[in-house]
Amino acid sequence: MAFPQTRMRRLRASAGMRGLVRETDVRAAQLVLPLFVGEAVPEREPIATMPGVQRLSLAGAVEEARAAADLGIGAVLLFGLPAVKDEHGSGAWDEAGVAQLATRAIKHAAPGLLVITDVCLCEYTSHGHCGLVREDGSVDNDASVELLARTACSHARAGADIVAPSDMMDGRVGAIREELDGEGFAETPILAYSAKFASAFYGPFRDAAHSTPAFGDRRSYQMDPANGREAVREALLDVREGADMVMVKPALAYGDLIRAVKRATRLPVAAYNVSGEYAMVKAAAAAGYLDERAAVLEILTSLRRAGAEVIITYHAKDAARWLAEQT
Ligand code: PBG
Repeated sequence: MAFPQTRMRRLRASAGMRGLVRETDVRAAQLVLPLFVGEAVPEREPIATMPGVQRLSLAGAVEEARAAADLGIGAVLLFGLPAVKDEHGSGAWDEAGVAQLATRAIKHAAPGLLVITDVCLCEYTSHGHCGLVREDGSVDNDASVELLARTACSHARAGADIVAPSDMMDGRVGAIREELDGEGFAETPILAYSAKFASAFYGPFRDAAHSTPAFGDRRSYQMDPANGREAVREALLDVREGADMVMVKPALAYGDLIRAVKRATRLPVAAYNVSGEYAMVKAAAAAGYLDERAAVLEILTSLRRAGAEVIITYHAKDAARWLAEQT
C-alpha cells in the first residue's frame, strides 16, 4: 500500500511514538573510554589537538577510570606512554611498565570496570613504527609478532581483562592466543584491531602519544582505505586465529565495513571512533558550527545501527552523561 493509505509520518508524530518504534539505542555499558597514561606525566597534561582529553599520571588514570565506572561506562582502553623509548620498544613488555602498572592500579580501584590494553610497539619504539625495523627500514613481521605476544602476556599478568593488538602484523592474533594459553591465560579474550586502515584520522592520537613514525609511514602494514573485501578477509583470518572480538577502525567513514565484518564473522564488533573524528566534532562545536551533544549521540547511534556492539570513543564520558539524562 502506498500514499495516501500509508503515511510514514504517523509513527513520528510524538516523542512517545518515536520512542516506541526506535530500532537502535546506545548504552553506556557499550562504550569504551581510551586513556593515555604517561610515566613522566604530571597529574594531567592537556593534548592540544584533542580538547577535553589529557595525558594522565597513574593517579590521574585511576581517577579517570573511577569516573568512567561511576558513569556506567563498560571499559577503558589503556595506552602507555613510557618515559624512555628504544629501538625494540622494550617498555611494551616491561612487567613494571606504565601500562602494566596502570592496569594493576585501575583493577584495584575499580574492579568492576573492564580494562582493555592496546597491544602495540609504536608508543614504545624510538622510530615510532608498530614493529621491529630492519636495516633497510622495512618492518620485520615475524620478529615483531614474538614481541607483541610477550607484551600481551605481560598485560594479562597485570590483570588486563581483554588484550587488543593494534599493530596489523600478520599472524599476531594466533601467536598471542598461543602465548596466553601457554602462560595460563586461556580465559583472556582478544579484541583484534582486524581492519585497521592507514588513516589521516589518527593525527591527534600521534600527537598525544608522540608516536608519529620518524621515517616513512604505516602503509606497509595498515590497510588501504580503498579496500573493503580485504577488510572482511582480515577479520576472517583473525577469527581463525582465535579472535573473540573484531574491530573496524576508523569508524565514521567505514560504516559499510562495520556491517560487512559483522555479517561475515558473527562476532561482536567494535568500532573505534578515532582521535581525528573526535577532534573534528570538538572543533566544529567550539566554532559554533554544530550542536556537540546532538552530533555525538547521532554518531554513536549510527555506529550501533551499522552493526557495532562496542564503541571506543573519546566522547564516552560526555555521552554517558547525556544518555543518563535522556532516560
Ligand atoms: C597504535 C594505535 C594508534 C591508534 C590506536 N592504536 C595509532 C596509529 O596506528 O598510528 C589510533 C587511535 C586514534 O586515532 O584515536 N598502533
